[in-house]
Amino acid sequence: MVAGLDDAALWAQDHADARGNQGDIMTRTVYVNGDYLPEDQATVSIFDRGFLMADGVYEVVSVLDGKLLDFEGHLVRLKRSLNELAMDNPLSDDDYLAAFRGLVERNALADGLVYLQVTRGNPGDRDFAYPAAGTRPTVVMFTQAKPGLADNPAAQTGWRVISIEDQRWSRRDIKTVQLLYPSMAKMEAKAQGVDDAWMVEDGVVTEGTSNNAYIVRNGAIVTRALSNDILHGITRAAVLRFAAEAQMQVEERSFTIAEAQAADEAFITSASAFVMPVVEIDGAAIGTGQVGPVARRLREIYLEESRKAAI
Ligand code: PDD
Repeated sequence: MVAGLDDAALWAQDHADARGNQGDIMTRTVYVNGDYLPEDQATVSIFDRGFLMADGVYEVVSVLDGKLLDFEGHLVRLKRSLNELAMDNPLSDDDYLAAFRGLVERNALADGLVYLQVTRGNPGDRDFAYPAAGTRPTVVMFTQAKPGLADNPAAQTGWRVISIEDQRWSRRDIKTVQLLYPSMAKMEAKAQGVDDAWMVEDGVVTEGTSNNAYIVRNGAIVTRALSNDILHGITRAAVLRFAAEAQMQVEERSFTIAEAQAADEAFITSASAFVMPVVEIDGAAIGTGQVGPVARRLREIYLEESRKAAI
């Protein structure tokens, strides 16, 4: 609570902060099923299966200088997620692109994120069985302003992480909206005063709460191989491609927390954090405890190349 502010002013401050508008009360325009609406007029049914069953998938795409990063990769993964859940794809590729661009423009978004969610829609009641054909999927999109996203000061000092048991379901390759366990893991990290948690299953790291995990040993970049155990990160694919192009050695294999703690460097990748160095795991400093040269270089290459290819 800030002394002297009434409820309306506090609301405005919260919402302005969430959008990075620094106090300027501009109403965000969001997208719901083909309509562009002020955020306070956008609604979804209480019977929507995304709400009742977490029966929905999502994507997060970064925006730098008003342009979309890795848009095509995110679209390919969205369609794969829909397909794995036998969910109809309600829009064409061009429709998605037009809506993303429509939101970036309407919200004058320079740096930030576009969130997209597609659910199995509103069958008009609650039922475990999927609805019969004809129930239209729900499509929601909104922007999140993050001024200076690419210049996040955390990239200079690196994240500290803890390890935590991975208690998620076993189809983590599908980007569903069931994010309760990652939220719980993030809260545990916060409670311990650090930035994130690396999840561990059968003694080896799967991934971070919302990112893919890497270590660097003797110059080689090590990250878990793709399977149903982790999300197939779009940033991961790009970073491994750039690393190979820069003649860096890449090993796709599992690693333990002990191996990570003894590594020269560690880092994570995601659409919203790009390449973020990790300097401590469970209280143990990685390498020098400072941001290492490989993570620093990969972040530079990723930002440079993705800005070039942004649309
Ligand atoms: N999270 N692993 C998990 C579990 C994730 O949730 C994410 C992305 C990634 C990285 O994928 P990508 O490089 O395609 O962003 C890996 C997004 C950013 C989120 O939930 O906000």
